[in-house]
Amino acid sequence: MQGKYSDVFNRMVKKGVFPHQFAFTLLIPLRNIFLSPRKLIQRLELKENYNVLEVGPGPGYFSAQVAKAIPHGTLTLTDIQKEMLDFAEKRLAKKKISNVEYHLCNGVDFPFESNKFDVIYMVTVLGEVENKEQYIKEFFRLLRPNGILSISEQAGDADKMSVDEIKDLLSGSGFELAKLYGTENNFTINFRKI
Ligand SMILES: C[S@@+](CC[C@H](N)C(=O)[O-])C[C@H]1O[C@@H](n2cnc3c(N)ncnc32)[C@H](O)[C@@H]1O
Repeated sequence: MQGKYSDVFNRMVKKGVFPHQFAFTLLIPLRNIFLSPRKLIQRLELKENYNVLEVGPGPGYFSAQVAKAIPHGTLTLTDIQKEMLDFAEKRLAKKKISNVEYHLCNGVDFPFESNKFDVIYMVTVLGEVENKEQYIKEFFRLLRPNGILSISEQAGDADKMSVDEIKDLLSGSGFELAKLYGTENNFTINFRKI
């Protein structure tokens, strides 16, 4: 592989923002071995009328089923790459899923009102985020009291964070550990806003 393509490929396998040119690789159903949308939904403890924020949805591998699980609520997708949001929007529109809003984020803060969301989740994203502490502060502001911040990480991701790194990041942030699912290699860790 040469030139432009080898550069994009290197960005996919190395640390940093996952290149949108390889978004299709995030849609391989084999991923269900590590975490399926169904399993994630159970872990998010969703209710039909919840307002949910997904940070870094990429092409929306988990988004369609999460949106279907909250038919009387809204799923907001926010990603730092417009191409990823466009990809997700096309996929969800094809599936005729309409309770979804799309927001291109700036990597620092979010223009949503405080206490707006019942659940905020991200899958294989936090390690890519530059301003992690700032994001955690924003998530605390955006969640309602008792709301859940759910972080999933998967083996093979160059930016994967460990359980301990995530616990350290959130210590003193106002969140308490609610539940840990899976293994050190593939896990979902839920925190509750207290
Ligand atoms: C490895 S992909 C994971 C996509 C999706 N969560 C999944 O599991 O299929 C990481 C995604 O996070 C997004 N991302 C990276 N940094 C971000 C940031 N600071 N804010 C929001 N999204 C970000 C990338 O654009 C990309 O879509």
